[in-house]
Amino acid sequence: MKGVLLAGGTGSRLYPLTRITNKHLLPIYDRPMVQWAIEAVVKAGIQDIMLVTGGTHAGEFLRLLGNGHEFGIDRLSYGYQERPGGIAEALGLAERFADGEPVLVMLADNVVEQSIRPMVDAFGTHPEGARILLTRVEQPEHLRHLGVPELDAEDRVVRIVEKPEDPPSRFGVTGIYCYDAGVFDVIKTLEPSGRGELEITDVNNHYVSTGAMRYDVLEGFWGDAGESIDAYYAVNDFVRAYGANKA
Ligand code: DAU
Repeated sequence: MKGVLLAGGTGSRLYPLTRITNKHLLPIYDRPMVQWAIEAVVKAGIQDIMLVTGGTHAGEFLRLLGNGHEFGIDRLSYGYQERPGGIAEALGLAERFADGEPVLVMLADNVVEQSIRPMVDAFGTHPEGARILLTRVEQPEHLRHLGVPELDAEDRVVRIVEKPEDPPSRFGVTGIYCYDAGVFDVIKTLEPSGRGELEITDVNNHYVSTGAMRYDVLEGFWGDAGESIDAYYAVNDFVRAYGANKA
């Protein structure tokens, strides 16, 4: 399995900090944000990684990460997204990199306390369809900023609603996804959403509709450091106190 890290977008919720750099280069405790996601992917056993970014600070990633060896990456490839056309569009740029293999996709502003290896290993044994990682979220106001799954009586995902006014469950969809190579054909069928982006939730709902979506529930802390300035500091405080990516 190959890894795709998505680090494009505008980071507008962290303006003005992100006017002068890319969000994923801002510090989380003692290192740039993107390094936590890299560590999560490498510790999940994946060393062939593509980083997709965009905007005017893309060159800084090369300066920080180089060939990736220092971070446990065997082969680091880079992709450039011309405009922030959405998470699914950014993932689509990795088609030739994936070259028919399944992919682990991680949004580079996500930080996890526990290893994501169990999910990756579970997908690795049956690398067909898609597998997402859910996190328990108690506050409805937090769920309104996330993708939220609706579950049936047997706890199967019926659909995922992006940023729901009325959250259909107490689970948030994290930015950590496993897909088979068919994902690139799914992306080609997408239409831009109301905000003009190709949505990863539309990709996931495609897999839900074909009965090919599975999920795991993450234990421990999960944070999206790009969600708001308060979330950014909450992730900083957590990582400083307890660390991240534990075995
Ligand atoms: O973090 C989890 C959430 O991430 C999920 O619950 C949502 O279902 C999912 O849509 C996503 O929501 P966000 O509102 O957090 O997405 P955002 O636009 O902030 O993008 C998240 C990351 O994706 C960002 O850190 C970089 C990457 N990205 C985003 C866009 C729009 C790109 O690489 N290119 C893009 O064009």
